[in-house]
Amino acid sequence: MFTSMLSVFTFLIATTNASPFVLPRDASDTDSCQSLKNACNANVTDLSHFYNDTACVLFTVCSAPPQVPSAVLFQNGAPADQPRMNESFFMTMSGGQDYMSQQAFIDAYYGQISITPNGTYPSTVDDVIAHWENIAAWTGYCDTLNVPYSNFADWLEYSSVPGVCPAVASCNATIANETLPCVPQPITDNGSCSEVASECVFWVADGLFQNEYCVLSSFCYAEASTDVLLQHLYPSYVSDHPTTASEARLSQAVFYNITGGAQTMSEQNVIDAYYGALTGTWIDLGGPFGAETPGKSNNNGPYPTSTDYVSNFWGIISAWTGFCDTKEIPYDNLADYLSYAATSGYHPAAC
Ligand SMILES: *[C@@H]1O[C@H](CO)[C@@H](O)[C@H](O)[C@H]1NC(C)=O
Ligand SMILES: *[C@@H]1O[C@H](CO)[C@@H](O)[C@H](O)[C@H]1NC(C)=O
Ligand SMILES: *[C@@H]1O[C@H](CO)[C@@H](O)[C@H](O)[C@H]1NC(C)=O
Ligand SMILES: *[C@@H]1O[C@H](CO)[C@@H](O)[C@H](O)[C@H]1NC(C)=O
Ligand SMILES: *[C@@H]1O[C@H](CO)[C@@H](O)[C@H](O)[C@H]1NC(C)=O
Ligand SMILES: *[C@@H]1O[C@H](CO)[C@@H](O)[C@H](O)[C@H]1NC(C)=O
Ligand SMILES: *[C@@H]1O[C@H](CO)[C@@H](O)[C@H](O)[C@H]1NC(C)=O
Ligand SMILES: *[C@@H]1O[C@H](CO)[C@@H](O)[C@H](O)[C@H]1NC(C)=O
Repeated sequence: MFTSMLSVFTFLIATTNASPFVLPRDASDTDSCQSLKNACNANVTDLSHFYNDTACVLFTVCSAPPQVPSAVLFQNGAPADQPRMNESFFMTMSGGQDYMSQQAFIDAYYGQISITPNGTYPSTVDDVIAHWENIAAWTGYCDTLNVPYSNFADWLEYSSVPGVCPAVASCNATIANETLPCVPQPITDNGSCSEVASECVFWVADGLFQNEYCVLSSFCYAEASTDVLLQHLYPSYVSDHPTTASEARLSQAVFYNITGGAQTMSEQNVIDAYYGALTGTWIDLGGPFGAETPGKSNNNGPYPTSTDYVSNFWGIISAWTGFCDTKEIPYDNLADYLSYAATSGYHPAAC
């Protein structure tokens, strides 16, 4: 599944997530993973080809979760820009297949430890399986647990990149269902969308489409949906939070405020409003959810790295509403997009 999506996601990156570095590990197989780390350190003579060494690749897998591949590179002093894993090397780990089965992964794991001086085997094979299922979930192969070469290489290359989302959060459907959905974002986002969404939190209780910050957040969640946005805006302890379907239609005051009174909203209007929302941002001066005291700060940004970021999400909205020719959207069409896109099942690419 991820293979087909990769052309879209390859160049996407992120808003969310703190530094991937120095996360604690709580898995019970710490010792076997430490053995792989020792073997990787002892054997990798070329840190710029980290994914050409069995111990280093297995160490990367057993560090996740919670450690992402980029954090493993960082901790080992290896360059971040590793070449993509070579297929012929992959096949030395997979038993000659162009996919890796769970059993082949287990064999490679125990095989490497058997040749590692002072190597410690996992206390149970379940620990090894849990690491493999993590990769199967990210790549979308929970059904067979057979992960093709290219998807495995994608995991090494892209799974650390914020804004690139896993196929599913977990192969365990209960856990997947309880996990806050990942929000895909282009690389140019630079954290701007989550900043605008954090401003929206102060006013969302009055309606998602009744406030300029919340409307702009709804725009920049175009790769996800406004239902996902609402899940991110409302804390998990607020049960029965609203969905898009229960939100009132777009406020005309907000629409005409953004257009400066014009009958259609242009890409330039949205660029101006979006950058405006990131200039002198609102911060939380205290109070519980729904009763926070917002305060206007002198903080700016993070701005997108390029206005291409705004062009992309406005391009998606223009495509949904059928205004690719001008990217000028009248009130009724934009209000329809906001009210119905989340449940429409229609997810066009940007114009
Ligand atoms: C390094 O790799 C070789 C061949 O794979 C293996 O025999 C040796 O035990 C490894 N060294 C360590 C410290 O793992
Ligand atoms: C990968 O490792 C193999 C053997 O360990 C070596 O022959 C080959 O040159 C390496 N390839 C790269 C690109 O480092
Ligand atoms: C993979 O590595 C081998 C040996 O290191 C090399 O001969 C081969 O061309 C590489 N394949 C690709 C696709 O880079
Ligand atoms: C193996 O472990 C023992 C005890 O834990 C230690 O004394 C010894 O130095 C280790 N050997 C190597 C090669 O790491
Ligand atoms: C899935 O996760 C839930 C919650 O952690 C757990 O209770 C359940 O046993 C797991 N199911 C399987 C099949 O592992
Ligand atoms: C997912 O969670 C929601 C509530 O959080 C629940 O209503 C739904 O039944 C769950 N679905 C599955 C497949 O567990
Ligand atoms: C209209 O925009 C101005 C500044 O851009 C802002 O201060 C005001 O709150 C906005 N009004 C509405 C209804 O969103
Ligand atoms: C991206 O965000 C960082 C802060 O997170 C900021 O320092 C940087 O200037 C932003 N990039 C651009 C092009 O504005």
